[in-house]
Amino acid sequence: MSKLLYIKASPMGKLSYSTTVADAFVEAYKKSHPKDQVKTIDLFSANIPEFDFVAASGKYKVMRGKPHSPEEKQAWDKVIATIAEFKDADKYVLAVPMWNFSIPYRLKQYIDVIVQPGQTFTVDSGGNYKGSVTGKPAFVVFARGGEYAKGTPAEQYDQQSKYVESILRFMGFTDIRSLMVEPTLAGGPEVAEQKRNAAIEKAKQMAGEF
Ligand SMILES: Cc1cc2nc3c(=O)[nH]c(=O)nc-3n(C[C@H](O)[C@H](O)[C@H](O)COP(=O)(O)O)c2cc1C
Repeated sequence: MSKLLYIKASPMGKLSYSTTVADAFVEAYKKSHPKDQVKTIDLFSANIPEFDFVAASGKYKVMRGKPHSPEEKQAWDKVIATIAEFKDADKYVLAVPMWNFSIPYRLKQYIDVIVQPGQTFTVDSGGNYKGSVTGKPAFVVFARGGEYAKGTPAEQYDQQSKYVESILRFMGFTDIRSLMVEPTLAGGPEVAEQKRNAAIEKAKQMAGEF
């Protein structure tokens, strides 16, 4: 039995393109893997720890090998619990909107919490980084209002798929399967619907092989 963690980064619920395509993937996955467990984190309603002064000081203490103050320990325990929930999964599904060419702030907050030395990556005395989340596949649906296809002038603005794929690789992921839903705005509602339906069909296919 595998555990799949489904992370939703859009606040738009059933109106979200990334969520509805990722939902179709997860539903198809459940059918083809009936014994597996699926856990969902909706980042706009989940209680993700703030990465404020105390949490950041806690991080620097870890990096410098210094003990935590009681306040830092309390904040750091919440960080560790969030990381433990993340690392407990065997497979990952992410639904990610493009916001200002990048990602919604709640996903960035989650990343700032879970990407921690000694937890999701290590650094050796020579300054070499190594991801600790290894041997686990990730499926990511990226929704964008415009179009940012590879090889087009718009590609340079895509700090969404490039960043998410890069931070996943930094944490150790090597099997990253992506699906784009675009344009969800620029081509009008009919084009958006066509693109969503095509992406749903592709997602269902990809779920069987996940
Ligand atoms: C705050 C905000 C910023 C956005 N910025 C961009 C952007 O930079 N480029 C773009 O193509 N679309 C942008 N959009 C449009 C979204 O990418 C588009 O609506 C997409 O479908 C959102 O994903 P979702 O449907 O899963 O929520 C933005 C939307 C919002 C709400």
